[in-house]
Order: sequence, then C-alpha cells, then structure tokens
Amino acid sequence: MNNVRVGIVGIGNIGTAHANTLFSGSVEGAQLTAVCDILPARREFAKENYRDVAVFGDYSQMFASGLVDAVIVSTPHKLHCDIAITALKSGLNVLVEKPIDITVSKARAINELAKTVDKKFVVMFNQRTNDVFAKAREIVKGGALGELKRTVWIITNWYRTQSYYDSAGWRATWAGEGGGVLLNQAPHNLDLWQWICGMPVEVTAKCEVGKYHNIEVEDDVIINARYQNGATGVFITSTGEFPGTNRLEISGTLGKIVVENGVLKWWKLPENERDICFNATDLFPSIKYEYEEYVSQKSNNDAHKQIIQNYVNAILNGEELLSPGTDGIYELTLSNAAYLSSWKGGVPVKLPFDSAEFDALLAERIKNSKTNDPTATKNATGKYSKRWQVNW
Ligand SMILES: NC(=O)c1ccc[n+]([C@@H]2O[C@H](COP(=O)([O-])OP(=O)(O)OC[C@H]3O[C@@H](n4cnc5c(N)ncnc54)[C@H](O)[C@@H]3O)[C@@H](O)[C@H]2O)c1
Repeated sequence: MNNVRVGIVGIGNIGTAHANTLFSGSVEGAQLTAVCDILPARREFAKENYRDVAVFGDYSQMFASGLVDAVIVSTPHKLHCDIAITALKSGLNVLVEKPIDITVSKARAINELAKTVDKKFVVMFNQRTNDVFAKAREIVKGGALGELKRTVWIITNWYRTQSYYDSAGWRATWAGEGGGVLLNQAPHNLDLWQWICGMPVEVTAKCEVGKYHNIEVEDDVIINARYQNGATGVFITSTGEFPGTNRLEISGTLGKIVVENGVLKWWKLPENERDICFNATDLFPSIKYEYEEYVSQKSNNDAHKQIIQNYVNAILNGEELLSPGTDGIYELTLSNAAYLSSWKGGVPVKLPFDSAEFDALLAERIKNSKTNDPTATKNATGKYSKRWQVNW
C-alpha cells in the first residue's frame, strides 16, 4: 500500500477539521475517501464541500464499502469504543479522538481486541506533539531531575461558557458525555501528566458538579495523587475561571522544572538534595544551581495533523506511534479514579481500581441523567479552533 484511504465517522467540530486537513491533501500518503454522520445537515455539508468523497449515514456501511483502509472516529466519546471495535473487526486501522471512551473497562476491552488484530490503533493526544512537553518528558524520564518529589499542574485555562455547554445535547451530561471537564477538556493534560511523570499509585479527588455552569457534571476539580516512591501530585482543573493558568511544576531530588507560557525553566542542583540535606554543616546553605531555559522551537498549530500523519506513516511503513491506543487507558484511569474518590466522599482510591464498582456508580448517574440523546449536535462550525491547541 502506498496510499491510505481514510474515512471519518462524525463530522462535527473536530471531525470536520480532520476532514478538511485530509481533503486538502496535506497529510502525505493519505486521501479522504469517505465520511459518515447521522445528521443529514452534516452529510449535506460533506456533499457540498468534499468532491468525490463518499458520504454515509451508517458507519457499518462505510466500513463494509471497501472504500477505506483506515478510519478516524470523532463522535461523542461514549460511542468511540463501539465504533472503533466494529472498525477493527472490519479489518480497518483506527484512530479515535480523545478520550478513548468514558470508562477504563471499555478502554481495556478495545485494547485487548486491538492486540489480536494486525491493525494500528491510535488515540488523538495531539498535545504530545508539543516540543516543550516532550522536553519535560525527556528530562524526567531520563532521570535528570532525580527522584520525583512533587508534581503540580494547574490547568484552569479551559474556560467554557454556558452557551458552549448548550451547543450539543450530549455535552456535560452523564448520559451523553460520561463526565465534565475531566472527560472533555482535561484528558490532554491528564495524559501529559502521566506521560511525563508516570502513573501515581493512589488518587484522592474532589469533583465539584455545576459549580460555575448549569450542568449536571463537574466543572471544577482538585486531584491529589501519591506516587510509588512517596512523591505527591496535585492536579487542578476548571472550565469556570478566567483568565486561567496552564502551569506544570515538577520537583525532584536534582532540581525543578516549570513549564509555563511555552517555556520550560530548569533549575539543576550540583548534587542530590538529599545528600546536601544530610551532609551540609550549614543550617542555611546557599546552594549554587545551574539554570537553563528551553523555548518552544515550533508553532504548534498543526498538532492534530501531526498525529494523523504519524498514524498514516505507521500504517505505510511502521513508524513508531506517538500516541498508541494502549496509552488511552492511563488518563481514563486517572479521571475514573477521581470520580470514584469524589463520589465516595473523598476517599483515597488505589490504582488500578475496581472498575466494576466505578461502572455501577456511573450507570446510576447515566440512568438519572437529564439527557439520553448522546448525539444531538446543533452548530458544528467546521472551523479549526485555537481552543484545541496548547494554550498558555
Ligand atoms: N483532540 C482535540 O483537540 C479535540 C477537539 C474537539 C473535540 N474532540 C473530541 O472529538 C469528539 C467529538 O467532539 P466534537 O466537538 O467534534 O463534537 P460534535 O458534537 O461537534 O460532533 C460529533 C459528530 O458526531 C456525529 N455522530 C454522532 N453519533 C454518530 C454516529 N453513530 N455515527 C456517525 N456520526 C455520529 C454527530 O452528528 C456530530 O456531527 C469528542 O470525543 C471530543 O472529545 C477532540
């Protein structure tokens, strides 16, 4: 194969952006050959805008059409795994939008299936292409920060209005979305948090429901985490603060990094702080440290395209995946565990947790949810939005 024929399921906001990227020919080795949406208006849009691209109202028909080798799933989250499983079983490669679905149990199930088929399975964690976050990962994973002591991410610049939440029936409802800021906006940061710092072993959280909006899910969250070595972590997110903050601070035995405003600041100690602490005779030693800054080298306005290009390259020539589907399990583990902790009154939840208990508690919320219409989308703009990029 030297050309991957791509079909997109769900051409709402982000699906249309992906369709435009592919239709413009800017992904090498790929061609948009089909799209699918259950909304007649979106299918009309596709017929008018994507010449010679087949348009379907039923994804099973698209998968069986012989017109696609690979699909991108960009429907509401809770449909991701069901659609992706059908695609994998139809012999197709799959890239799903984040989050991989709404529960860890579904994320695990699809990954079990993906292991058994010789197809690529990818999740859209586009912020992994940001070079500043990649640098932070290299420093932490490479050991240059020593043993982890503390991680703190304040990611409160996901500001959303009531009008945003009202723009689609599935948004901000247990039945439609399976959660709020933790399921929709913060998955990027939860993923990067674990990608850079590793997974904690325990999570305690407070998820405040409808604090700033008329919604039945959370829009304000604090997660406290504990890592295997005793290090601690804090993750704070909200869609109700303006102006918000995007600041990641990681402290280790060999120094500290802070990522903010597109710059990574790095303080390097001459030796392990634990040795200084116990060997120094001074009460208040003035420790000489080195300081370095890493400024982003590239604009990050084509992050989604980079993930799609990597997906296509992986299919064509086995390029290593930047965002493999297996990694979709981790951030969902963090958000599901945060809910579990909060729903049980703020108890610590050890990871991995009991997903059957979580699924049962989520099912109760879905049963009592205000919407059972997981699909209703009113006003997809079809325009690539800056809010999908890393914002500082
Ligand atoms: N990676 C990112 O930066 C990013 C940005 C935005 C959205 N997303 C993710 O993409 C997904 C979609 O978000 P959105 O804002 O584009 O939503 P949206 O509501 O604008 O679009 C969803 C589309 O899916 C269609 N759809 C629903 N059920 C379908 C089905 N069974 N078959 C075919 N089409 C169906 C809807 O009609 C709609 O057009 C979400 O999971 C979201 O988290 C990711």
